[in-house]
Amino acid sequence: MIFTVAVDGPAAAGKGTISKALARRFGLAHLDTGLLYRAVGARGGDPVAAARGLTPDDLARDDLRSLEAGQAASRVAAIPEVRAALIAFQQDFARREGGAVLDGRDIGTVICSKAEVKLFVTARPEIRAHRRWLELGGDEAQVLTEVIARDERDMNRADAPLKPAPDAVLIDTSDLTIEAAIARAADLVAARLPPA
Ligand code: DC
Repeated sequence: MIFTVAVDGPAAAGKGTISKALARRFGLAHLDTGLLYRAVGARGGDPVAAARGLTPDDLARDDLRSLEAGQAASRVAAIPEVRAALIAFQQDFARREGGAVLDGRDIGTVICSKAEVKLFVTARPEIRAHRRWLELGGDEAQVLTEVIARDERDMNRADAPLKPAPDAVLIDTSDLTIEAAIARAADLVAARLPPA
């Protein structure tokens, strides 16, 4: 079975949590595509060469979750040659037997434009910044500034900007518990999954 769930949305909206839960519940593989851009940003040097030479080991670095790594990722993600170098890896992952969940910014619009299920997960910026602050600490106002700056860059770049696919289902997690958000996403997947 080839079955792809595309989960897009801005930083700290709950994409990762929802994607992991969907993968576990339905036995699908999961790829956090933000990690690819974070790894390219963290390598330093020429980002295009870093993207072309990326290996699975690069994705295992434990310094990729920081705010700085997120900003560096967002900057290299605006370079078309970087994005182009990462397409094949993501599409191969999506086509694997058994099905897959991919989360990112352009999965439903570019990488897997024919995905069986497309979700756009979002939340108000203050709520997203608060969640990121709970996770990483620091100055909450500064976290909000960084989250907004990253969204702006991701939404306004020319190549594969962050936006909902026309056929994506919107899930606003601002006023939902994690369990409620996961339940809503799981219902959408269950409704489209082919019978076993
Ligand atoms: O999901 P994340 O916060 O780990 O993503 C980090 C950055 O990588 C994000 O700000 C923009 C970029 N990104 C992208 O451009 N396309 C994707 N599919 C995933 C991430």
